Amino acid sequence: MSQDVWKPELYARFRAERSRPFYDLLAMVRPRPGMRVLDLGCGTGELTADAHKRLAARSTLGIDSSPAMLEKAAPLAGDGLSFALGDIATFEDPEGTGFDLVLSNAALHWVPDHPALLARLVRLLAPGGQLAVQVPANQTHASHRLANELAREEPFATALKGYVRHRSVLTPVEYALQQKRLGLVEEESRLQVYVHELSEPADIVEWCRGTLLTDYEKRLPPDLWHRYLETYRRRIVAAIPDERPYLYTYQRILFSGRRSG
Ligand SMILES: C[S@@+](CC[C@H](N)C(=O)[O-])C[C@H]1O[C@@H](n2cnc3c(N)ncnc32)[C@H](O)[C@@H]1O
Repeated sequence: MSQDVWKPELYARFRAERSRPFYDLLAMVRPRPGMRVLDLGCGTGELTADAHKRLAARSTLGIDSSPAMLEKAAPLAGDGLSFALGDIATFEDPEGTGFDLVLSNAALHWVPDHPALLARLVRLLAPGGQLAVQVPANQTHASHRLANELAREEPFATALKGYVRHRSVLTPVEYALQQKRLGLVEEESRLQVYVHELSEPADIVEWCRGTLLTDYEKRLPPDLWHRYLETYRRRIVAAIPDERPYLYTYQRILFSGRRSG
């Protein structure tokens, strides 16, 4: 696996804002007694642990590719809750019986080819099992646009070997259709706008450093990464309103469907 640039402390800084969509996602879950749950891209595991408890699940397995995030999650394990290192794109059910719930909050956007990915995830469901996913869809916001614009400029473009963060997230309409085509029932798909109150505009840099920009951090040598981040900071602060609190609008897609059975 490539360099681990996830920083649990930085990610946790906006925990309250980041957890709200998770609870909106959890509200889409139709709990059943004794569920076997899979959480893909579980991060530091607090939300996985809370879902495990709220759903009174028989077992919950959190999968993540970041050893740093999993190190934070490890002490939460027990009482049917476990965590393991793994890649969402290749994960196979160790028991082969299928999961009653496959959950993923703010993680699938790191994985390419969502039509193929969704087909894989549906195969992980037991009959009657539910898929419930939240993915960010904020690519039109200056925070995301500027990150990619900068990656196309020198000296970053050469150092990144032309890499620009690719958008794998589909539209809500496409998720609805894909789920239907994959035979899921009770499918739902919606776009939701969250307005996060950041104490000042520059906080947006810390927000993005904790997630989006990790993709560039892991591909740039430290000196260029530092330069990239400082240029990004200057440009984003100039591009967004100078208001306090700064209202960071964040679009997310939530979708869910159930395998019949
Ligand atoms: C934005 S965090 C979300 C964490 C958690 N679901 C939450 O809501 O707090 C995204 C997580 O996805 C993980 N991730 C990214 N790509 C992954 C992959 N291909 N396989 C497994 N985990 C991945 C990262 O390591 C990170 O912990």
